[in-house]
Amino acid sequence: TGAEHTLIIRTPDDFHLHLRDGPMLEAVAPISAAQFGRALIMPNLNPPVRTVRDALAYRERIMAAIHGGQSEVPHAPSFEPLMALYLTDGTTPEMVREAAASKVVKAYKLYPAGATTNSAAGVTSLEGLYPALNAMADCGIVLCIHGESTAKDVDPFDREAHFVQQTLPGLMAAAPKLRVVLEHCTTKQAVEFVSNFPEDRIAGTLTCHHLMYTRAALFEGSRLRPHMYCLPVLKAEEHRSALLHAIKHNEKGRFFLGTDSAPHLEKDKSTPKEGCAAGVFSAPCAMELYAEIFDSVNALEKLEAFCSLNGAAFYGLEPNKGSMKLAKRARSVADSVPVHPLGSAIVPIRAGHEVAWTCSR
Ligand code: NCD
Ligand code: DOR
Ligand code: ZN
Ligand code: ZN
Repeated sequence: TGAEHTLIIRTPDDFHLHLRDGPMLEAVAPISAAQFGRALIMPNLNPPVRTVRDALAYRERIMAAIHGGQSEVPHAPSFEPLMALYLTDGTTPEMVREAAASKVVKAYKLYPAGATTNSAAGVTSLEGLYPALNAMADCGIVLCIHGESTAKDVDPFDREAHFVQQTLPGLMAAAPKLRVVLEHCTTKQAVEFVSNFPEDRIAGTLTCHHLMYTRAALFEGSRLRPHMYCLPVLKAEEHRSALLHAIKHNEKGRFFLGTDSAPHLEKDKSTPKEGCAAGVFSAPCAMELYAEIFDSVNALEKLEAFCSLNGAAFYGLEPNKGSMKLAKRARSVADSVPVHPLGSAIVPIRAGHEVAWTCSR
């Protein structure tokens, strides 16, 4: 009816996205391309995306998945994958300079070894990497951080706060010109660190699931909910409200969109022996969820900067040229996304339920 609430914003970007490889890539890449103009593609494949060569080859596979893949999304609009390389103990300043010269590599991703999915090749000691970090600063490469402490005695719900307090200040000081994105901020300590840092060289991405759900969603109806399990793990309401505060009062533009959409096959989410893989698959309704979230705090006027302007500015990119229309009209989310040759499917967030908005590019 005529009272439908609609909004037009610049085409958004997703600055934190897992696309995987092979059949999974073919299934999920067109879904993100239907909503986002660009995405920063995470390098935690097995083996990881470590070199410019790896990144160029992976980028080709992504483009093929979007334009030539067997996907259910009909006419995917233009989509540019921005590549991130996996930082290891062996990353040198020369490798960083080569990455910068490639133009397609925008960032290195720091996974503390053992912190999350495919992080075994991650960093065990930051000190040895200071020359590489300063080389990034010199040639305009951003450092993206999975900011969780891996110390054995730290409680899983405190790992981010511990990293922010114990590790991040030293890292910022050791590379005094480095531009840093603290990925998927989930705690008040993380948003406070980003908000209060005295220089404009740090930003934070916020996922739709951490903005919308608390750890209660992991246990809803007294049942364990593997599709809500991700890392960093969902937090308590006091932290979620700090994230909401950050999007509503984003005056310095330091917070922007990164879904961390992280697909896993249903069989890897529910296998009792190996344990449940970490990751929430939000790509099929990511923008709809961000619209719900901003609407819920009466901040829809801040949605465009968060989704389409702040991230691009931080990475030194122009905003996208096209636009997205968001209508406050409910639609349903699929029960699952098949990954044909693998005989298993991916269950998205809100599977089989409605989202309150419908978005189209
Ligand atoms: C708070 C706000 O917007 O800062 N409310 C308000 O100022 N009237 C709510 C919040 O941000 O958490
Ligand atoms: O939940 C997560 N899943 N968190 C991460 O940091 C990695 C991701 C993945 O790759 O599955
Ligand atoms: Zn992460
Ligand atoms: Zn991630």
